[in-house]
Amino acid sequence: QEDLFKNVVSHAKEYGYIFPSSEIYDGLSAVYDYAQNGVELKKNIREYWWKSMVQMHENIVGIDASIFMHPTTWKASGHVDAFSDPLIDNKDSKKRYRADVLIEDYAEKINIKAQKEIDKAKARFGDAFNEQEFVTTNERVKGYLAQKNEILQRMARSLENDDLADVKALIEELGIACPESGSKNWTEVRQFNLMFATKLGASADTAMDLYLRPETAQGIFVNFLNVQKTGRMKIPFGIAQTGKAFRNEIVARQFIFRMREFEQMEMQFFVKPGEEMKWYEYWKTTRLAWHKSLGLGEENYRFHDHEKLAHYANAAADIEFNFPFGFKELEGIHSRTDFDLKAHEQFSGKKLQFFDNESNSSYVPYVVETSVGLDRMFLAVFSKALQEETLEDGSTRTVLRLPSVLAPTKAAILPLVKKDGLPDVAREIIEDLKWDFNVAYDEKDAVGRRYRRQDALGTPFCITVDHQTLEDKTVTIRHRDSMQQDRVAISELRNIINNEVAM
Ligand code: GAP
Repeated sequence: QEDLFKNVVSHAKEYGYIFPSSEIYDGLSAVYDYAQNGVELKKNIREYWWKSMVQMHENIVGIDASIFMHPTTWKASGHVDAFSDPLIDNKDSKKRYRADVLIEDYAEKINIKAQKEIDKAKARFGDAFNEQEFVTTNERVKGYLAQKNEILQRMARSLENDDLADVKALIEELGIACPESGSKNWTEVRQFNLMFATKLGASADTAMDLYLRPETAQGIFVNFLNVQKTGRMKIPFGIAQTGKAFRNEIVARQFIFRMREFEQMEMQFFVKPGEEMKWYEYWKTTRLAWHKSLGLGEENYRFHDHEKLAHYANAAADIEFNFPFGFKELEGIHSRTDFDLKAHEQFSGKKLQFFDNESNSSYVPYVVETSVGLDRMFLAVFSKALQEETLEDGSTRTVLRLPSVLAPTKAAILPLVKKDGLPDVAREIIEDLKWDFNVAYDEKDAVGRRYRRQDALGTPFCITVDHQTLEDKTVTIRHRDSMQQDRVAISELRNIINNEVAM
């Protein structure tokens, strides 16, 4: 697993998908730059989402709100008071950690012990093995799992009650050591707000304290009535948005999974109070189907229904994805009640209500939210697509099996040799196809090596121009996944490519 993850990170760099930010200055932790191919893949994921949400739903429209918002927004939303992580410092190593992550890591180690026992038994009993039964009867496994659950539950309770002293006590009781130095000399635990603060205005006395938005959702809430009125929207309706969000994450690891500057794709669906559970179920089903439509393997998704809910929610679930480091949150679906709109009404003094012609009355709508990280989607797609394959002749090839609709380059046009007019014909094909698709030209190296490079880049088609092309205007088209090659007329190329890559 760890090797697979390292491969993902190095392949992303080597093939121009993702670079560490400001790399010549040794990078900036948890900040990354999308490179020439990465920017295309990211754009295609965004478009695939936008099309399914906005274009395909008559009652969903998009907006693009600013990153800067009036500072009161974040008081109303609860972010000023409650958007924080519990931090702890090690006095000897001077390293800072998230207290909850230290505890979770400890609990995960116990979980791994249980899993090892299960795997051993599985190997021993083969087909006759019943995992469910084993887990409930084996004393050792039962003990491990109970211990793990007890730790996590106590942590959740303490955090919920803001009992940071008990979080510290738990770390001490478990004897958790600093991962860097092994020291157990910890400071108190304290809450650290995740929002980045900055200032608007030049003069010191008039400058206004601002935050970089930690979620895009609030830009939608504050524009709810503007959109509803100007778009003559009737409930239920949705507002979708994609854009940057910023969080001063303390534990920066797992590549683009947890970044300090990232992009969200969010949709707030405004519904009649009392109908929110119906729409919550609808969006859970719809969003899971959207993920599965990418063909990355249905077994790689699962729901995680939240039992403990945030103060604003009356139901919440994550869609988790099987990343190279295990199942983790990819998207959140939350039934947020009327918490946000009511809070903005209270803080702004403006009414944010929908007038219902049928009942001749006004009400504050309830909201069901779908929120997915674009960078996390990128990591999900990229990590599952990257495959090392052994071919029939025993050789291996690296292939990036990106869903064709998302691939940065749809076809590479390759003249078999750099002479006899073949490059000119290849260029003519490019001039024709580039109006509809991203296409690339490559004439360097033997054609077999060029195929391998396009496989590693994730290009679904290679089109080779050879001497026969000059006689009959046909080319070979090679499919990335099957490596099958067909001879087709140049005039057919557009249709063939379009059939596979159209959104
Ligand atoms: N408006 C709701 C909201 O922001 P969230 O669960 O905090 O909810 C939603 O974030 C999604 O945004 C997550 O499921 C994840 O995909 C993505 N996300 C959150 N924090 C992130 C980070 N630091 N880096 C990358 N993606 C992140």
